[in-house]
Amino acid sequence: MENNFDVIVIGSGPGGYVAAIRLAQLGLKTACVEKNKTLGGTCLNVGCIPSKSLLKSSELYHKAKKEFNNLGIETDNIKLNLSKMLNNKNRSVLTLTKGIEFLFKKNKITHLKGTGIIIDKNTVSVVENSSDSLKKVNYKTKNIIISTGSKPTSLPNIKIDEETIVSSTGALSFPKVPSKLIVIGGGYIGLELSSVWRRLGSDVTVIEYLDHIIPGMDKDISNEFLKILQKQGIKFKLESKVTGTKVIKNKTVVDLTNNKTKKKERIECDKVLVAVGRKPNIGNDITKIGIKLNKNNKIQVDKKFETSIKSIYAIGDVIDKGPMLAHKAEDEGIAVAEIICGQAGHVNYDVIPSVIYTSPEVASVGKTEEQLKKENIKFKVGKFPFIANSRAKVNNDTEGFVKVIADEKTDKVLGVSIISSEAGTMIAELALAMEFGASAEDIARTCHAHPTHSEAIKEAAMAVDKRPIHF
Ligand code: NAI
Repeated sequence: MENNFDVIVIGSGPGGYVAAIRLAQLGLKTACVEKNKTLGGTCLNVGCIPSKSLLKSSELYHKAKKEFNNLGIETDNIKLNLSKMLNNKNRSVLTLTKGIEFLFKKNKITHLKGTGIIIDKNTVSVVENSSDSLKKVNYKTKNIIISTGSKPTSLPNIKIDEETIVSSTGALSFPKVPSKLIVIGGGYIGLELSSVWRRLGSDVTVIEYLDHIIPGMDKDISNEFLKILQKQGIKFKLESKVTGTKVIKNKTVVDLTNNKTKKKERIECDKVLVAVGRKPNIGNDITKIGIKLNKNNKIQVDKKFETSIKSIYAIGDVIDKGPMLAHKAEDEGIAVAEIICGQAGHVNYDVIPSVIYTSPEVASVGKTEEQLKKENIKFKVGKFPFIANSRAKVNNDTEGFVKVIADEKTDKVLGVSIISSEAGTMIAELALAMEFGASAEDIARTCHAHPTHSEAIKEAAMAVDKRPIHF
């Protein structure tokens, strides 16, 4: 095999594999190192993709059990076959990881199998660790991109064993539905996986340190979302700190203390999901060769994603720019590839949508009311509820609303949040509008098809000027 490359990308998650494809499109000789058996990183293997598969299947199961009858679809004896559901998820993951293998071949990208270790700015060592041998090969390169992603964090007194006390990885493959599941952390992972297991029959309690769920989201949204999830039967212990977990007589217990009242409580359960955030995967090699980290222990990069060592770049969850999201990493992958090739490549960190794929979904882009108040920016708000949207009404999914925030003087859209069954898809329109610097009036005067959930966006934009039609 050829041992000289223009670029070696370390890590094949959404940041790394996209960077590799763009580099190859631009004519550079590219290799991508991956230590796992399959390509695609956390997102494809144990993150976005398998969780969305389980979210979809569990939602259908729940609907078949609880809603079909009302629609005149009479079914008897609906039963859960969890192993089939998990197999379907595993098949989807396999197909998509194979898809990346295909794209690598199509683009003539060399897939180096093993752990990539940076020896110096022009050398990456790939260590293949099979059961009976340890193979090590050095490759020369002009540039290196670090896109090694992140791993779950835990709490000081809790050890994740992926059996009883699990991270998202374990919670994507419980062999049987836990009768009682405790989820520590009311963020993205905590709430998506709470939804999955609640729908499949678990008694779920979420313990969140703060007094609200989804920190960083608009408070209006977070409050409404909490009510919706509580209605679905998920229990919440807010403002509570988990102090430890123990196994007592085959039962796991979680100890917590209320931050305000200092009242202590012990809850019994079968499984505990720890979802309190993720930390970057940064190997010793990175600090050993002198790549600087910032105070959050993430890799410090400049505007061009270059680290403190020339021609070594970093993107995705390992850097301290933007949220830890797959699509942010993908955009950075394209940008860094173009920058290496002398083009302008850029990422607009002000317009990165985020979506929680529960039912209904929650999506947002741009700034929240709280952020704007902090920044002393004057704004106007337009809200429109789905109870007044005809499509939501006929679909029996009237929960939620659209909230458009625009600059008080210029009317420029500054942020949008949506709770709706279609929020994840709808938010793309707003991201595009914001990229083009649209005003609320621009959206209000854009024709939206009827009957669609998207009409609620137009109405919320009209509500910014206090003239919605249907509410
Ligand atoms: P997160 O940062 O979204 O939420 C963690 C939650 O845990 C926060 O609400 C935090 O206040 C709480 N917490 C922290 N320490 C705690 C403690 N000691 N006791 C109780 N609560 C505590 O992190 P999460 O959910 O683990 O997700 C990790 C990353 O993965 C995030 O950056 C997220 O954006 C990303 N992700 C994105 C998804 C999506 O786009 N749909 C899906 C899943 C993950």
